[in-house]
Amino acid sequence: MRLEGRVALVTGGGSGIGAATCRRLAAEGARVAVTDVDPDRAREVAAEIDGLPQLLDVRSTASAREAVEAVERELGPIDVLVNNAGYDEFAFFVNTDEALWDRVLAVNLRGVISVTHAVLPGMQERRRGRIVSVASEAGRVGSHGSSIYSAAKAGVIGFTKTVAREAARYGVTANAVAPGPIETPLLMSAPQALGELGERLVQGMVGQTALRRLGRPDEVAAAIAFLASDDASYITGQAIGVSGGLAMI
Ligand SMILES: NC(=O)c1ccc[n+]([C@@H]2O[C@H](COP(=O)([O-])OP(=O)(O)OC[C@H]3O[C@@H](n4cnc5c(N)ncnc54)[C@H](O)[C@@H]3O)[C@@H](O)[C@H]2O)c1
Repeated sequence: MRLEGRVALVTGGGSGIGAATCRRLAAEGARVAVTDVDPDRAREVAAEIDGLPQLLDVRSTASAREAVEAVERELGPIDVLVNNAGYDEFAFFVNTDEALWDRVLAVNLRGVISVTHAVLPGMQERRRGRIVSVASEAGRVGSHGSSIYSAAKAGVIGFTKTVAREAARYGVTANAVAPGPIETPLLMSAPQALGELGERLVQGMVGQTALRRLGRPDEVAAAIAFLASDDASYITGQAIGVSGGLAMI
């Protein structure tokens, strides 16, 4: 029960890694705001863990601000922010267009920036807080079919390091996790979008892991819960690979 009495807000909490994180944080004692752009999914996960479902579209700064206000009204000040919402459209870079760049950057990079901007001032004022952002090994070593997503995730890591430096004096830590291939609807959309090529992409990622298997959402959630807890009190500005050894940096 490392998070007893803490309030956590998870973005994209309605599916995959986000849902597993909501369950894990709740199991460790936190009161969890399950936020998502899809309110039905948020409601389903929140119902399981006696959490608070909340609409939050990370692409909108207004939505981020309103959601943070609503959560703090209901549950109290946010101690833990998990920037998890993510999205990709698999395509080779030469086949992408400006609209795809904007869609992918808006969720994966700008979304992390806008939700952090809504939460961090309160954390700094209270002189405590934990920010954990879900990046990706794609942001460190690249990934076929995910050029813009990889750029966004590299951006999340750079952003995290700077927030860690700026917020340290206020007792706030900021870290990232960098998952490898995790069995969620996001990853499994590659075979759906690209057929056999997508299947080969996923198998290629598995082949790059030292452990030679897909990861599970709860394995990423365990690392997030650790970084959100007092056990990680001397860790900030890090990107921790949760990728079966896909990258060792
Ligand atoms: N699955 C993997 O292999 C993998 C690998 C590395 C990193 N990640 C990252 O993990 C995180 C979670 O991904 P997942 O695999 O669980 O995907 P998922 O598709 O299962 O879940 C993503 C969730 O984010 C929500 N979401 C999408 N756009 C949103 C928006 N604009 N505002 C708020 N919520 C939004 C979706 O509704 C969904 O509930 C993402 O940041 C993803 O980039 C996943």
